[in-house]
Amino acid sequence: MLKPCDKPVDVDQLDLEPAPSPEAMRAYADAHDILILAHSYQEGELQEAAHFVGDSLELARYAKQKQARNICLCGVHFMAETAKILCPSARVFVPDPKAGCSLAEGCNANDLEKYQAYLKAKRGRDDLVTICYVNCTAAVKALCDIVCTSGNALEVVQSVPADQPILFVPDMHLGAWLNEQTGRNMTLWNAACIVHEIFSIGMLLDLKKQHPTAKVLAHPECPKNIRDLADVVCGTAGMLRLVKQTQGEKYIIATEANMIYRFRKDAPRNEYIAAPGPSCACNLCPHMQRNTPEKLWHALQTKSPEVHVPQDIAAKARNALERMLEIKPKAK
Ligand code: 13P
Ligand code: SF4
Repeated sequence: MLKPCDKPVDVDQLDLEPAPSPEAMRAYADAHDILILAHSYQEGELQEAAHFVGDSLELARYAKQKQARNICLCGVHFMAETAKILCPSARVFVPDPKAGCSLAEGCNANDLEKYQAYLKAKRGRDDLVTICYVNCTAAVKALCDIVCTSGNALEVVQSVPADQPILFVPDMHLGAWLNEQTGRNMTLWNAACIVHEIFSIGMLLDLKKQHPTAKVLAHPECPKNIRDLADVVCGTAGMLRLVKQTQGEKYIIATEANMIYRFRKDAPRNEYIAAPGPSCACNLCPHMQRNTPEKLWHALQTKSPEVHVPQDIAAKARNALERMLEIKPKAK
């Protein structure tokens, strides 16, 4: 969230200088007391420049644990907001503030507030629990009881007593998968990820025929027809844990294609094939792709564009995030 007085910075309009090597950028960050965090969907050079690369949950935990003075978050906007909420005294900035998320855009705080009121009135009870997937704005988190990520969603849903009604926002596919896994009947918001929604079922079936021994790993943001073809459905950290335990395996990966960079680096003895989108070879998140080494270099040198979250919203969103972080991860 930008301060009302801030004009959104259009980094694309700036004449950016070429970036030095990832190692040189990290050295610059070290010298200027900046912690670089990157999501595993970022292109390789950004991952190499970062002090820490992880999934949404790991980035949140790491930011909270480190309490750095300056954080440059290479990912999408809600991830930078999460870091700011968990490290309120840090200056948090991003390579490109226009790097958003279709899931976050698909759930507006005003609409959510009205829907919560509608559900409470319809049921004549006030104990509705709202769980939000971390891919949403700070304003939406502020209206929710607890946050979850793909890495802990099952544990978060199971932490709510069975007789309490749950509204799950914003991802309908993750919500549907959680209903299948837990036997709950959560009411689902109607938003989806543009990347995970468009995997081609026909091309995936063809790929499975071409590689009959390959295991399909799918992110729970995928629709049911893709999840049903998967050998394992799990978040990005779960996928990484799994491939690191094997060698000589072949995997078809139904998530953002840059994840394969991380797999090839951390588990190089397997073969990885990106599950195809409808007409292209693979699926890259257009929001994550907005971040480039040149924009990271500009961000490091200027400690901007900065991300702000109004204090009242941050305080409520922090409660929902802290409640998530209190849930101990299951031993895997
Ligand atoms: P993870 O929570 O698995 O990191 O995924 C984040 C995301 O944006 C998936 O599209
Ligand atoms: Fe959002 Fe989908 Fe991109 Fe993840 S991959 S950041 S859910 S648009």
